[in-house]
Amino acid sequence: MKDPVRVAVTGGAGQISYSLIFRIATGEMLGHDQPIILQLLEIPPAMDALKGVIMEINDCAFPLVTEIHGSDKPEEAFKDVDYALLVGSKPRGKGMERADLIKANGDIFSVQGKALNDHASKDVKVLVVGNPANTNALIAANNAPDLDDGQFTAMTRLDHNRAMTQLAQKTDRQVTDIEGLAIWGNHSSTQFPDLSHAKVAGKAALDLVDQDWYANDFIPTVQKRGAAIIEARGASSAASAASAALDHMRNWVAGSNGQIVSMAIPSDGSYDIAPGIMYSYPVICENGGYRIVEGLEISDFARERMQATENELREEREAVAHLMS
Ligand code: NAI
Repeated sequence: MKDPVRVAVTGGAGQISYSLIFRIATGEMLGHDQPIILQLLEIPPAMDALKGVIMEINDCAFPLVTEIHGSDKPEEAFKDVDYALLVGSKPRGKGMERADLIKANGDIFSVQGKALNDHASKDVKVLVVGNPANTNALIAANNAPDLDDGQFTAMTRLDHNRAMTQLAQKTDRQVTDIEGLAIWGNHSSTQFPDLSHAKVAGKAALDLVDQDWYANDFIPTVQKRGAAIIEARGASSAASAASAALDHMRNWVAGSNGQIVSMAIPSDGSYDIAPGIMYSYPVICENGGYRIVEGLEISDFARERMQATENELREEREAVAHLMS
């Protein structure tokens, strides 16, 4: 048996975690032969609820889970962790503007970035799920000077998976027939789900669907899917977000088999995107890392949308400039 690895999940008593932690515990993230020590973080008012979650994890008698710890202190929850899934964040309250939300979460993610810097494994892989995910990841990375910025990522895999299914259903195919699709930019309604390089069973996606469906149906459907789920379910996407978080981490760790997936990562200036912002790119995961897929042709239609979502991320970065080191 392998030595156990430490996995931190923040917001451990929240909706996403209620699906996520149990699937991590079955081995869906790191493999069915990888023992795990779970280190769950919550805020003090949610510690009772977290206690209940831990009781349930214990009651599952998961063979891979060797220890479970709950804490309301980031320095304890992040101690020696190899993987950190930052799910917990402050929800948008009544009358709260997006700028207020960014600020409230900025404080959380600067504290957590510092704690990861000081207490996590030097090789820790960090996924930020809590919104605004891209900018939260940027703040955490900036507050962790001893870690590489590339160790911090934000989740656009749910958007990617949503786009895969929309295209599969439209073309009457399975998601396994689709490759090359990508989400560019922010995990927000400005994101650009791009079909320019996507193929369905080997054929160019844009030869199979008409431009009107692409521009006026597919793109807005993916962009606004989160709101549509809230409208239908009366609660935000939780199980699908957890599933996407597992996909993101599993591919990062074990590779994506040459397939393009979407991850928000620190921009290195590729495709003329402002360096430094956490921007979702098409990437291929291999050897425990990821690389941006280079050399894709960008149409005027795509460029305009890539820039719109870049502009939003630049504005978000300006709003949190005071939290950057
Ligand atoms: P939730 O409200 O059910 O759970 C959040 C949990 O985080 C709560 O238990 C809360 O006590 C905890 N929390 C708040 N501040 C914390 C802190 N400083 N440290 C540790 N824990 C803290 O929310 P849910 O549904 O689980 O969603 C979590 C986040 O994920 C939200 O920000 C949501 O907008 C975001 N999200 C992101 C998606 C993406 O694709 N990137 C998709 C879906 C949701």
